[in-house]
Amino acid sequence: MKAVTLHREQIYGGSLLLVNSRYPLRQIIPPEQIRPLEQRTVQTFPEQKPAPTHPEIFLERKTALVLETLFATIGSGSSLLPVSGFRTRKEQEDLYASSLQDHGKAFTESYVALPGHSEHETGLAIDLALNREPVDFLRPYFPRDGICGRFRQKAASYGFVERYPEGKEPLTGIAPEPWHFRYVGLPHASIMETHGFCLEEYLDYLKEFPYEGRHLMVRIENKSFEIFYKKAEGDSTELTLPGYLPFQVSGDNREGFLFTLWR
Ligand code: DAL
Ligand code: ZN
Repeated sequence: MKAVTLHREQIYGGSLLLVNSRYPLRQIIPPEQIRPLEQRTVQTFPEQKPAPTHPEIFLERKTALVLETLFATIGSGSSLLPVSGFRTRKEQEDLYASSLQDHGKAFTESYVALPGHSEHETGLAIDLALNREPVDFLRPYFPRDGICGRFRQKAASYGFVERYPEGKEPLTGIAPEPWHFRYVGLPHASIMETHGFCLEEYLDYLKEFPYEGRHLMVRIENKSFEIFYKKAEGDSTELTLPGYLPFQVSGDNREGFLFTLWR
């Protein structure tokens, strides 16, 4: 067996963080944990450096790598345009203020998270557009067919979910955003897709599988996973795990941790 100790602040980091109007971001991602998404480029002249087709978009490192792999798998080339990834608090504040001015309160409250409450501040969220003019920065066009449909088909098996689906507005507090994808990792995105859970529902569901009780056992794409929830206890939480299994732990940004074991 392997003893694991978790510190309270670890509740506020990881790929399963819940960030919404109720749960603000508590920890700013360190700069070394974000990086620019690989630029897709167009060659202008052989002797010139390739010119970027879009401004640099930053994401949390693993999120960036997985997204690039997904783009390569579906061969999206320059047909998909990353529109917005990591945003600083200041950028979210400026976006909120300019949206209020340009589009009013109702629109802004529906489509722009309050500063400090945006998933974009985690580096785990990406807005995507079909690459055709004009590109709407706040509500990019990302339909369900064609290359966007291929992206959607593969997204969950790479750990991405459509974060604000239609019908979940009372839970997410955000209008449907078919362009906003959130990295939650494996196998969580697939489980969420299978059950039709938004992140708020999924994290509540996982509380039904506590460390002390029955764990969630799932088999996805020939791999077996064991998942459970552990509520934080004071400043440090201790538990034991089977020593031979690889595992990942994420905070939920509420009051506990989610463990994923590869079986
Ligand atoms: N558009 C999403 C809700 C955000 O601003 O984070
Ligand atoms: Zn977004």
